[in-house]
Amino acid sequence: MSHNLQIWHPFTQEALDPAPIRITRAEGVYLYTDDRRRLIDAISSWWVNLHGHGHPSIVAAIAKQAAKVDHILLAGFTHEPVEGLRAALQKILPAGLSHIFFSDDGSTAVEVALKMAVQYWQNVGQPGKRSIVALEHAYHGDTVGAMSAGDDSDFTSPFRSLLFPVHRVHSAYCYRCPVGKMRATCDIDCLAKLKSLLAERQSEMAAVIVEPLLQGVGGMIVHPIEFLQRIRRLCSDHQVLLIADEVLTGFGRCGKMFACEIAGVAPDLMCLSKGLTGGVLPMGATVCTSDIHKAFVGRDHSHTFYHGHSYTGNPIAAAAAAASLKIFESEPVFERIAAISRIHCQRLAAIREHPAVGEVRSIGTMAAIELKADDPGYASKLRPKLYKFFIEAGVLLRPLGNIVYVLPPYVISPDELNYVHDRIAEALDRCAQ
Ligand SMILES: Cc1ncc(COP(=O)(O)O)c(C=O)c1O
Repeated sequence: MSHNLQIWHPFTQEALDPAPIRITRAEGVYLYTDDRRRLIDAISSWWVNLHGHGHPSIVAAIAKQAAKVDHILLAGFTHEPVEGLRAALQKILPAGLSHIFFSDDGSTAVEVALKMAVQYWQNVGQPGKRSIVALEHAYHGDTVGAMSAGDDSDFTSPFRSLLFPVHRVHSAYCYRCPVGKMRATCDIDCLAKLKSLLAERQSEMAAVIVEPLLQGVGGMIVHPIEFLQRIRRLCSDHQVLLIADEVLTGFGRCGKMFACEIAGVAPDLMCLSKGLTGGVLPMGATVCTSDIHKAFVGRDHSHTFYHGHSYTGNPIAAAAAAASLKIFESEPVFERIAAISRIHCQRLAAIREHPAVGEVRSIGTMAAIELKADDPGYASKLRPKLYKFFIEAGVLLRPLGNIVYVLPPYVISPDELNYVHDRIAEALDRCAQ
């Protein structure tokens, strides 16, 4: 008996959203459709692609590796690609991070970090330290643990009953300051809640998790550098672990290899994914300090980190990741990033006073425009109008409700990037109120 199997697309409301666009080829910054159009991938296909689609050295590394060792389990085994990747990451990760645990994607990298933090305190004889602290507007992924750390939203509300409680503290969302201050004169007063929580209840707190400097899904919110630096200090002062979720911000997105580097901050745990493989194959990783790792080593089996996914450390993904990191050495990647950043700043300065614009924000390769809206948030009625307008103009942009942002592959040319910004300027006149 035949049956009809359909693809259920992610983050899609079939009854409202347009039908999926069929892509037949992806090259550089372009996606080619089956009806002979091309779209500039101005969001790097959900923030993963770094060096353009189909980069020949990544493609070659994948083909070569697939022919040698396709996949083997990482428990009790190791292989050259994962060791090569470890060596490449060692050169760029903040000092102090000594052990890397592989997983599948950003959500699982976060799950691993949360579980490591909680078990760490058990292993060192402080089992009472098991609560997680997270920020307002946070997003850490769609699995249940990652959703628990993420802020309450339309995305998570159906699953409230499944989520574990976390302590929610203010984010430095300066445009909508949670404590009613102005950045020019404030003393990062939004940190007061975290400060008192850690001072009063440090014996219960396992870790604070943050998206360093840039909260992505929550609205492309750019934090002052001091916000992250002071969170680091508070965590150290109160013996609470700091988890930096660099799933979005890692690998150059914010202007340096990692956002933590910009703030001169060393976290205790760091989550990586998205750009790790250049945006070509799924892979996640959680990196931790030797102090944390040491607590899991001993003759007592109960100290073991019993966690692992079937595809952990996949050799082909590891080969792609190593090839992507090599491109940082062989091509002027940080010059490209700086050029994107300059164009973003110029173009945002030009539209900041537009009557439809609430605030503009940028960091590294990310530029965001928060539009004024009576219905701010992901469900804003502006979102479908803007999405349709951009697609018809040949640009893939997926506004987060009333927030339009650009986050392109680093190989986008100035002309292409200016074309994207021109379309945004046009959209402000046509679609916004
Ligand atoms: C900061 C952050 N953490 C975690 C995730 C989850 O990553 P994934 O979608 O690969 O599970 C995302 C995804 O957007 C993210 O932005």
